[in-house]
Amino acid sequence: MKAVVVTRHGDESVMALQELPVPSPGRGELLIANRAAGVNFADLLSRLGIYKAAPNPPFVPGLEAAGVIESVGEGVSGLKPGERVMSFCRFGGYAEKVVIPASFAVRMPDDMTFAEGAAFPVQYLTAYHGLFHLAHVQKGESVLVHAAAGGVGIACLQLLRDLGVRVFATVGSESKGAVVHEECPEARVILYRKEDFRRVILEATAGRGVDVVMDSVGGETFARSWRSLAPGGRHVLFGAASAVKPGRIARLGALWRLRKMLLVSPLGMIDRDRTLSGFNLIHFTDRTEMLRAAAGEMLALRAKGRIRPRVGLSLPLEKAAQAHRRMQERQTVGKVVLTVS
Ligand SMILES: NC(=O)c1ccc[n+]([C@@H]2O[C@H](COP(=O)([O-])OP(=O)(O)OC[C@H]3O[C@@H](n4cnc5c(N)ncnc54)[C@H](OP(=O)(O)O)[C@@H]3O)[C@@H](O)[C@H]2O)c1
Repeated sequence: MKAVVVTRHGDESVMALQELPVPSPGRGELLIANRAAGVNFADLLSRLGIYKAAPNPPFVPGLEAAGVIESVGEGVSGLKPGERVMSFCRFGGYAEKVVIPASFAVRMPDDMTFAEGAAFPVQYLTAYHGLFHLAHVQKGESVLVHAAAGGVGIACLQLLRDLGVRVFATVGSESKGAVVHEECPEARVILYRKEDFRRVILEATAGRGVDVVMDSVGGETFARSWRSLAPGGRHVLFGAASAVKPGRIARLGALWRLRKMLLVSPLGMIDRDRTLSGFNLIHFTDRTEMLRAAAGEMLALRAKGRIRPRVGLSLPLEKAAQAHRRMQERQTVGKVVLTVS
């Protein structure tokens, strides 16, 4: 089978299309004939060597797959060859075939394309877990979404738009602002290169601040968001995109850019009544029941037309390097998907 391999840590050029043996499913596992693989920001971090959970090179990146079950391992019940499924996977997604635990697989609705299936598991579960399990967003509250035109960002906007929540959405360009307006017309778009998001929020809320922050950027953005929280505010930190500089593998540079996050004082959390939560879905392999319940609720929302993954860029598997470059240069909106023919 063909697979994209990260041959060593570095820029996009370290990824090579290689011929690898087809893996076989063990007990409780499925072999999927992959039709589309999701590209996530974590793939870039893994390639650069700054993602803790990633294996050492050589490895096949990719945390999401959507395809057809080719064979099932011993002990699998309720799923059979020929069924269309989407799934989170712990690496290996950028390949024609991938083995996943059966407990991760979710049957795809008939009207869902494989590209949409590859856009669903990671970004929608991240948005859902952050907004509802950790921040417990309530009607009447306000939410600041960073990188709002990105994959997780759009999932947040779609999940929030009918909830009676006031949304502030930061983006890096006017064209991304237009995308936010399409997804969530009521949102206050903040072009962070032109406007100070903290000032906009404090002015709009008469100095009170925002109830919830969905923060995938970290660094200085984290520090200013933390200071934009209202009493009782919840800051959900689930990424550190600001650690990445195009074309560089700089562990030290990444740490330097993130240093401002070290300034949170636990005592200040008591004094100012603020909560900080962090999570990484990749460690949730023992919480599949909770994730499956969330996926079920979101598929019900999708059936009602309330949410729909927005695939902003779809490229063939062999163009993985191009997909990474576009994402790293902040040129993508919504989900980036690699198709497998
Ligand atoms: N913890 C978890 O379980 C989990 C799961 C999924 C994703 N995540 C995190 O959530 C974030 C979003 O992931 P995604 O896959 O949906 O990606 P994405 O949002 O589609 O792409 C990243 C966006 O982040 C913004 N950005 C800010 N600083 C950046 C920088 N230095 N380099 C590149 N982009 C930067 C850019 O938007 P602007 O142009 O608008 O600035 C860019 O388009 C990532 O940080 C990812 O690691 C975490």
